[in-house]
Amino acid sequence: MRNGTDTLTDLCVQMPESPWFSRNLLNWYRENHRALPWRSTTDPYKIWLSEVILQQTRVDQGLAYWERFVERYPTVADLAAAPEAAVLRLWQGLGYYSRARNLRTAAQQVMDEHGGHFPREYEALLGLKGVGEYTAAAIGSISFNLVEPVVDGNVYRVLSRVFGIATPIDSTAGRKEFRALAATLMDPYHPGDHNQAVMELGATVCTPKKPLCDQCPLLGKCIALKTGRIQELPYKSGKTKSRVRYFNYLDITSNQGRTLQKRNGKDIWQGLYEFPLIESTRSLGHKSMVSSIENEFGPGWTIGEKIGPVKHVLSHQVIQGTFWSCVPPKKFKRPLEWIRAPLAAVDEYALPRLIARYLEDEHTK
Ligand code: ADE
Repeated sequence: MRNGTDTLTDLCVQMPESPWFSRNLLNWYRENHRALPWRSTTDPYKIWLSEVILQQTRVDQGLAYWERFVERYPTVADLAAAPEAAVLRLWQGLGYYSRARNLRTAAQQVMDEHGGHFPREYEALLGLKGVGEYTAAAIGSISFNLVEPVVDGNVYRVLSRVFGIATPIDSTAGRKEFRALAATLMDPYHPGDHNQAVMELGATVCTPKKPLCDQCPLLGKCIALKTGRIQELPYKSGKTKSRVRYFNYLDITSNQGRTLQKRNGKDIWQGLYEFPLIESTRSLGHKSMVSSIENEFGPGWTIGEKIGPVKHVLSHQVIQGTFWSCVPPKKFKRPLEWIRAPLAAVDEYALPRLIARYLEDEHTK
């Protein structure tokens, strides 16, 4: 931290390795950044919300979520006191629901362990549930002027192109190299703006497909541009393969309502509601679906229309979702965990995007 006792040597050590990077970037940022509501505050609660939401989605979609969260839970105390189901419902559509559960848990930690105030030290921020290096650096730099670099997808792209670095960004060596470089580039006097400027450049100018190089403040220094490697960088080794899963959903709908069940256990979508599910290791046709249902729930089912498979991509998994209209046999004894949601109330449950989209499509058919 900067204070009145810094010596000249301390100050020199803290000067960025390449001041051109930060100077050009900050001048550009001050003229060109998007005016976003979380940019006119340093309230760590609001910064934290924005950063967690923006890890899930782009600014244009994230803005509405941020506004809804801030309106419903204006302070960290309000979020800490919220029921988990309400937080999950507000998060619906963003995916990766453990982030929403962690938000609420971390808010409770801030209340219980930090007297209702966000901690001001990087290590203590890392102690909050769901807060990793990226989020701690973002909150720390923007709210508390900590000189900690953020490294997200935008930052990897900007740095790999400007410095012509082909180390795979999905490798341990790559993550280490880019983080170290990002740290040496930081403007120690404006760490929050510096971090946001790199991300903003990546989001609006140095974009993945068609970057607007003629608008870039680092144009003259960009090695990828000079050597024709813009499309190649950043480089990914592609070694992390996604697991494919086949979800066969039983759409059991009558005028008494729709059948839902809550997902429990250590798996995706914990705490969300979905239709009764049969997971299989391959895509099922009508015949194999009938025998799977009979195996699981006994004979006598009528299986009607099939919708799908619908591909749903998560960070480490691909879900192939198929929806089967089903009518159980007359004497069927429903499992205890099945609930009947009145047709008009299905909307009030927190649903995975895959299910919500199926229901939306149904209304527009
Ligand atoms: N993406 C995520 N957080 C951001 C921020 N603070 N500024 C610009 N882009 C971002």
